[in-house]
Amino acid sequence: MSASFNMPEMESEEFVLWQALLEKQTGLWLPESRKAFLITALSRHMIEKGFTNYNELYLKLNTDSVSILDWASLTDSLTVNETCFYRETHSLNLVSSYCRNMALEKFQAAPDSPQHLQIWSVGCSTGEEVYTLAIEMDKLNLGLKDSCEKEIYFGVSGIDISYPALAVAREGIYAARQLDFVPTTTKNMYFNRLADEYFQIKDSIRQRCCFIQSNILELDAKLKQNYDVIYCQNVLIYFKQDRKQAVIEQLVERLKPGGLLVLGHGEVTSINSDVLTRVDNKHCLAYLRKDK
Ligand SMILES: C[S@@+](CC[C@H](N)C(=O)[O-])C[C@H]1O[C@@H](n2cnc3c(N)ncnc32)[C@H](O)[C@@H]1O
Repeated sequence: MSASFNMPEMESEEFVLWQALLEKQTGLWLPESRKAFLITALSRHMIEKGFTNYNELYLKLNTDSVSILDWASLTDSLTVNETCFYRETHSLNLVSSYCRNMALEKFQAAPDSPQHLQIWSVGCSTGEEVYTLAIEMDKLNLGLKDSCEKEIYFGVSGIDISYPALAVAREGIYAARQLDFVPTTTKNMYFNRLADEYFQIKDSIRQRCCFIQSNILELDAKLKQNYDVIYCQNVLIYFKQDRKQAVIEQLVERLKPGGLLVLGHGEVTSINSDVLTRVDNKHCLAYLRKDK
């Protein structure tokens, strides 16, 4: 099949089938207005795999024998990976102050034991969010060392459904323009300048971060650990309300008692949960797990 392959029209009934299939597999809900976007993504996939009509591909993807890689390459063309360093400053400030208070509480409760904090970035895309959180935790440690000669052992895990986004995240190399929102002192402290205006996050930060491929609709044994902070920004906006609720329930299960869940503004309209209490902060949408 040549690259000039003309995509056939997609009937409304056909679009509805695709919409439901994608929602079931990935949580992504494509409104009718994104039909052209779906057709473009499917065309790339059909050309690559040699399919000539939507139905053929639909039937293939709707069987149990379909390979994970088939889904992965299609979802990669449909997901929005847009992200940047220091994207949500109010949410980041909230995480920093929560972690500082947690660290001080832990040091007070057990002054001689090493203390740990685990943060989870859900839908981490190409890694900027994970590294921003890790940099902020490192800065917190510098402050703790100054004020009480202690530090907290922290880790930041990122998960995403997209293999290519995670490959970029693991390398931690970014073009200079991607660091536009990184303060200069932070850039100098935490990035190594490479050739051709590229920068790589320093090993001291990379070693604190790990990246896992996973679908948040199928959180499984890969994520047994529970977290002090779960940070989920600009992911659920693409999901339907009932899915959002189901995903949030899964996230809450992985939140430690007393832990902080930070969601993006507009991520959800309402949360139905007996164990969460809203954090009083007009700039962020965040909850504490009550059962401390
Ligand atoms: C718009 S980006 C947000 C990145 C980052 N959280 C931020 O706010 O800058 C959304 C990310 O969610 C990921 N995503 C979408 N659906 C997902 C799913 N079902 N499981 C895991 N990740 C998913 C996408 O691959 C994408 O990288």
